[in-house]
Amino acid sequence: MGLNNKNLPKLGFLYLDYVLRFFDHSNFKGWPNKIETVTYHWGDDKNRFIKEVKKKKIDVLIGNIPATAYETFREIARELPNVRFIPSLDTQFSNKSKENVTRFAWKYDLPIPKTYIFYDRKKGYKFLEKTKYPKIIKKSYGPSNYGGYFVHKADSKEEAKELFDTKKYHPMYLQDFVPMEADIRVMLVGHKPMCAFWRRAPEGEWLTNTSQGGSMDYMNVPKSVLDLAVATSKAAKAEYWACDIAYGKDGKVRILECATAFAAFPYIRDWIGQYIMWSLSKGRFKKPNIPMFNWEELGKIDSSLLRTMRHITFGTFNSSYDGAYFGKKKKMYGKKKVYLHQLDSKYKIKDVKPRTKEEWPSEKWNYQDKFPLKNLKSMKVKNLKQLHKENM
Ligand SMILES: Nc1ncnc2c1ncn2[C@@H]1O[C@H](COP(=O)(O)OP(=O)(O)O)[C@@H](O)[C@H]1O
Ligand SMILES: [Mg+2]
Repeated sequence: MGLNNKNLPKLGFLYLDYVLRFFDHSNFKGWPNKIETVTYHWGDDKNRFIKEVKKKKIDVLIGNIPATAYETFREIARELPNVRFIPSLDTQFSNKSKENVTRFAWKYDLPIPKTYIFYDRKKGYKFLEKTKYPKIIKKSYGPSNYGGYFVHKADSKEEAKELFDTKKYHPMYLQDFVPMEADIRVMLVGHKPMCAFWRRAPEGEWLTNTSQGGSMDYMNVPKSVLDLAVATSKAAKAEYWACDIAYGKDGKVRILECATAFAAFPYIRDWIGQYIMWSLSKGRFKKPNIPMFNWEELGKIDSSLLRTMRHITFGTFNSSYDGAYFGKKKKMYGKKKVYLHQLDSKYKIKDVKPRTKEEWPSEKWNYQDKFPLKNLKSMKVKNLKQLHKENM
């Protein structure tokens, strides 16, 4: 069953200079054919990159695209209509900016904190006059994730104005402040959660980023959080995905961030590699079996050890044998107690299919380059194209 060596698609890794590599050959253990590598060099490298992909006859390009290269890669993808990008450029739409995360959530009616986006600074400042506080103010776009560094809380209109006067963030991106217990990062493959953990703010603080002193733990991630993460992954048609979800003091769940690029232990990247191999080989390679709530057990392993553990595999449920262990173990889930293996049939790994048309064409959705700050003559701020260059 499945494709023979000759009929397997030709794979390539999409790399960029100075950007951490999410995958390498070791995540695709057992792939019988050569996997090519194509590296994008910052600057004016579009045409050379396209030529190299064609010359190497690559069918599938695998890898994450950072925010500052996103628009360039939308152009590249258009010129390579027969190459499948995994994840697709449309799936990576959220990687570009917080604004894009918001527009994605608006389109699919996914819950997020109430969000306001202004390209017109006059309108934005008017809004600051009349809105309620506290508000969260974020830099929407940047070269990479800085873990809360560009996220601020304004308790009054004076504070908010002062912030926008000095920071010149463009667009003006604001959210209602959501009092929350903690936020939860969920990582998924084929829409199935494979890892999830709480991130809690230090006592008396509100930022939960671990780089800001937040703590993490793996126990009893609520059903509502996992279900929202799955819905988000499905809406993005994501082969793999991570979602940060705020668990409000009001008990409601809201998306804070989602992306295909995230920090993950090597064994997680192995699982994604196995999933892609399964999906692209029409079943020649085995679908990884990733039990629900495995993270509660793996999370007990010291993280320095977990960082070195590779190719972790699990057997599937077998009532006559494993039943002795799995069969008796129940877990509170939503309002009732269930057997763990029952959750595996509820959260199945789905085979994400290639897309056939563009969902987020830049002509429509690239507001940043359509409405750059330079159009406002009164502001002495570098325009975005310049910033682009400096970040490259
Ligand atoms: N609307 C909000 N209300 C309350 N806290 C928030 C809100 N948005 C973000 N936060 C807090 O700020 C942190 C960082 O925000 P986030 O949007 O994830 O940006 P970053 O890219 O810096 O991680 C979140 O993990 C959360 O703790
Ligand atoms: Mg974050």
